[in-house]
Amino acid sequence: MQYRGRSALVTGASSGIGEAFARALAGREMALLLAARSEERLRTIAEDLAARHGVRVETVSIDLAERDAPGRLLEIADERGFEPDLLVNNAGVGVLAPFAEVPLERQLEMIRLNVEALVALTGLYLPRMLARRAGGVINVASSAAFQPVPYLAVYAASKAFVLSFSEGLWAETHRHGVRVVAVAPGPVRDTRFGERAEMRTALAELRSIPREHVVAAALDALDRHRPSVVPGLTTSFAARTAGLIPRRLQLLATERLFRRYAHRP
Ligand SMILES: NC(=O)c1ccc[n+]([C@@H]2O[C@H](COP(=O)([O-])OP(=O)(O)OC[C@H]3O[C@@H](n4cnc5c(N)ncnc54)[C@H](OP(=O)(O)O)[C@@H]3O)[C@@H](O)[C@H]2O)c1
Repeated sequence: MQYRGRSALVTGASSGIGEAFARALAGREMALLLAARSEERLRTIAEDLAARHGVRVETVSIDLAERDAPGRLLEIADERGFEPDLLVNNAGVGVLAPFAEVPLERQLEMIRLNVEALVALTGLYLPRMLARRAGGVINVASSAAFQPVPYLAVYAASKAFVLSFSEGLWAETHRHGVRVVAVAPGPVRDTRFGERAEMRTALAELRSIPREHVVAAALDALDRHRPSVVPGLTTSFAARTAGLIPRRLQLLATERLFRRYAHRP
């Protein structure tokens, strides 16, 4: 994958892993279009990266959970003459609580962001990449993609979708000059994910990795044409062995582990 002088669209770039992607890609001299809702945060990051690396960095403040948002984002990018060679579908949220206690609209909004927007942006840009026989898509999944997670049931299911979708697309496209990869990290440090999912304590207690490791693993996997990558030895081992444990046993053990973290939203 060639980076220098090419362009990348990064969603959810206003904090956490998305910001780390933006920093790493600007460091590789890519022009960037950064999308998220927080205009001020995006602008601060963009100005910093443009000054540090002398690259074009633009921002779009947009709520990707709105159904027409991916189409609007494409239109804005087209109007600005911004054609991404790399699409990083990173924006995502989780909610840690018993499913029945979370307002349904919040759960559906999570599916619209984690799943629908990711599929829509991929669907809008992939045909163009295939026509050019060049380009890449990085989809941020999660280690929660490898097994159901009680009290994070919708989140884990949304990430299982992301992993399955990405690997399917990898197989469809790898002979046509386009790379698709899913990165599936466990807990990651220096993100706002835990605080938003109301799981700060849970994440603090779990072993976490720096967000830069996630980005490095994703870019390495992209360079190696791999369909997916799980950064971190412990998480990678857990993901690989998840399927070996009897399903019912696994569900009961995970339920017990997450029960104490789950609380009313
Ligand atoms: N942190 C972890 O432990 C962990 C582990 C595995 C996977 N992940 C995945 O990593 C990805 C990034 O999360 P993170 O950990 O970096 O958390 P984060 O710091 O909370 O970042 C989430 C990003 O998504 C954006 N976002 C949230 N809702 C949005 C919306 N409706 N429209 C547009 N943008 C929206 C946020 O920006 P605004 O609020 O400004 O919109 C922010 O830039 C997510 O897909 C998450 O599921 C995280």
